[in-house]
Amino acid sequence: MEVFVYKQYEEMSKTAAEEVADVLNAKPNAVLGMATGSTPLGVYLELVRMHQRGEIDFSHVTTFNLDEYVGLPITHAQSYHRFMHENFFRHVNIPPQNIHIPSGTTTNYRAFCDWYERRIVDCGGIDLQIVGIGSDGHIAFNEPGSSLRSRTRLKTLAKQTIDDNARFFDRPEDVPIYAITMGVGTIMEARQILMLANGVKKADAVAAAVEGPVTAMITASALQMHPNTKAFLDEAAASKLKMREYYDWIQFHKPGAPRV
Ligand code: F6R
Repeated sequence: MEVFVYKQYEEMSKTAAEEVADVLNAKPNAVLGMATGSTPLGVYLELVRMHQRGEIDFSHVTTFNLDEYVGLPITHAQSYHRFMHENFFRHVNIPPQNIHIPSGTTTNYRAFCDWYERRIVDCGGIDLQIVGIGSDGHIAFNEPGSSLRSRTRLKTLAKQTIDDNARFFDRPEDVPIYAITMGVGTIMEARQILMLANGVKKADAVAAAVEGPVTAMITASALQMHPNTKAFLDEAAASKLKMREYYDWIQFHKPGAPRV
């Protein structure tokens, strides 16, 4: 895992958006894996700006989102369908038929999850997957104890995740308890992964994921086994990394590396 630390969230988001743009410039029909939550909002804002300036075209892009709450209609203010539409899809030119988000309202979850997995393969696999990290170390909604080979499935959310996400809902009891999520194994098949984290609340999870042992208790730690993962962090999220100086040294001395 390559670690990049940025002074500000905005700089981190801008550089992450440039990574996405690089993928699209090399492969205009790339398949992108999308995340929701507060962390990637800056990346989406930047990608929209780049699109409006005519710098990137999404007309051949296909997307797969990581997850969706079970039980929320797609029009619900906190559904991930709505989040993606409001914050990204309605501002860019991805053909609607190329957009995939897990269904939180299907009548047959097992069949839907199998279909989602097949659909990713049929579209050629994910070229670049964006992931955030939960304060319990999850990627997507792969909560502690999730198999590191797990596939898309229905998952019970951890109490910590429900508490973390209660900030988006009117009442804590409105937070759904279940989600459909890509598995760790599904995410690990992406050709490139960008893990984003900002804020001190993520510092422990980031340190465990980047420098701790690979363990199902911190599913983001599985990314250590991925051959092409970059962690983009702001200073606060990086504040508990023991090897911080080493990462800066590596990036500074790497030929052609971005100067962070
Ligand atoms: C969202 C997702 C989650 C979030 C994580 C961090 O699609 O898969 O794993 O990335 O919970 O959420 P934020 O960014 O809101 O702190």
